[in-house]
Amino acid sequence: TKITVVNRGGAATEVAAQPGLSVMEIIRDAGFDELLALCGGCCSCATCHVVVDPAWSERVGKPSPDEDELLGSSDHRTATSRLSCQINFTPALDGLKVTIAPED
Ligand code: FES
Repeated sequence: TKITVVNRGGAATEVAAQPGLSVMEIIRDAGFDELLALCGGCCSCATCHVVVDPAWSERVGKPSPDEDELLGSSDHRTATSRLSCQINFTPALDGLKVTIAPED
């Protein structure tokens, strides 16, 4: 299984994705240092912000109330913004495409 990650420069890279990890862990393990993920996945820092490709948005689902509140503090929130540590990667998301959000 794989996901495609678009970095802040606009370059798309396909990376291997293991089900059971969060999308944040997959992106971080693939070596993207743009995704700070400072809190390590505790849903408290918002530095793992990604924009989900609209084609995938429905399958990925909506943020929880806590996540929604954190996303609200970002200047770069979009209709399909998510915190990548809160997206559990499953085989159903094989081929997912996300873009790392601009730094706040
Ligand atoms: Fe901190 Fe996702 S890693 S909110």
